[in-house]
Amino acid sequence: MGNIIEDTVFAPLQNISEPKWWTGTPAIDPARFVIDGNDFRVSGAPLEPSDALATKMRQTFHDVGLVHVVNTGLEDLQAMRLVATQVLTKQRKYEGGANPRNKIQSNVYEVGAPLEAWLHYHHEMAYIGSSTKMLGFLAYKVPSEGGSTFVSDNVQATDQILATPFGQKLKERGLCYHRNLTDRDAFKDVQEVGVYNHWQQSMMTEDPDEAIAEARRRGLDAEWGENRSLKTRYTASAFEFFEPLDRNLLFSSMADDATWFDTWPLVQHLAPDERPLKLTFGDGSEMSVEEKQQFLDVYDQFGIPINWQVGDVALICNYRFAHGRPAVHLKDGEKRELGVLIGEDFERLEALEGKW
Ligand SMILES: [Fe+2]
Repeated sequence: MGNIIEDTVFAPLQNISEPKWWTGTPAIDPARFVIDGNDFRVSGAPLEPSDALATKMRQTFHDVGLVHVVNTGLEDLQAMRLVATQVLTKQRKYEGGANPRNKIQSNVYEVGAPLEAWLHYHHEMAYIGSSTKMLGFLAYKVPSEGGSTFVSDNVQATDQILATPFGQKLKERGLCYHRNLTDRDAFKDVQEVGVYNHWQQSMMTEDPDEAIAEARRRGLDAEWGENRSLKTRYTASAFEFFEPLDRNLLFSSMADDATWFDTWPLVQHLAPDERPLKLTFGDGSEMSVEEKQQFLDVYDQFGIPINWQVGDVALICNYRFAHGRPAVHLKDGEKRELGVLIGEDFERLEALEGKW
């Protein structure tokens, strides 16, 4: 007892609370981003792509960075996809994913995270040099209660964080993303304890030399660790320049820290340093618990729930919004399945001088 190591093992990150997701009032009036599918379909018939719908969706995405199409009458994923791709016209081939994503159907991925885990607000693929401009979600199976996705108005979150000493530290020091990818071969006949993503899946190769080469192509420092785990490091700005607003926006969150795993089965028991992800400042210095809490809270203050009905389609700008969700608790016979579309990729510019 009293042993520091044991205390660490049994009390990981207890000081950081579960996200609150929003204040109870949406940070942006839903009237600005919800599109009623009934206005664009013949009554009784499911929603189909049309010029009028495309114009409305594109204008809304341009103005707000968020589109939620409701009352579509759709149940088929590919039909929902045709609505979404009126805005999300280019799809990225999914690479280097945080999550071991699988395809539900052609060009449609699953979220790739256990339902009992909450998923902190995050920007998709902030941890590699090549990210994506937007995401699409397709509501395929929806539970009777809960199961909402939340988005956070990142423009307001950026202003808020920059007004704090922590935000200024983020601006000056940047961030380092530490990742440990496990070896699939080491888990052939054993339970996948402590596993988030195997390097074979993340780097899409079985060849260790090719895996290292791929990591470096993605702008990561990479080296082999114990048990043939692949350790990668990526140092980058906590912000990203967004050309349409001509300013830098926050582009990082606690989702890339060890705290991401606080509610993940088979990972949550690990001490922070043993978990598959960890976030420090760019110079390697640790963030304090208070700073991590601030990082978490800032997105909660500008949250907006997206309450799904089957057939809903949402498009989310990856610069202007962060997204996440609370844990999902299903009743007997219920499912929650969202199709995910990953939009066009871009090479990160990081923060630009004078664009604050
Ligand atoms: Fe995501």
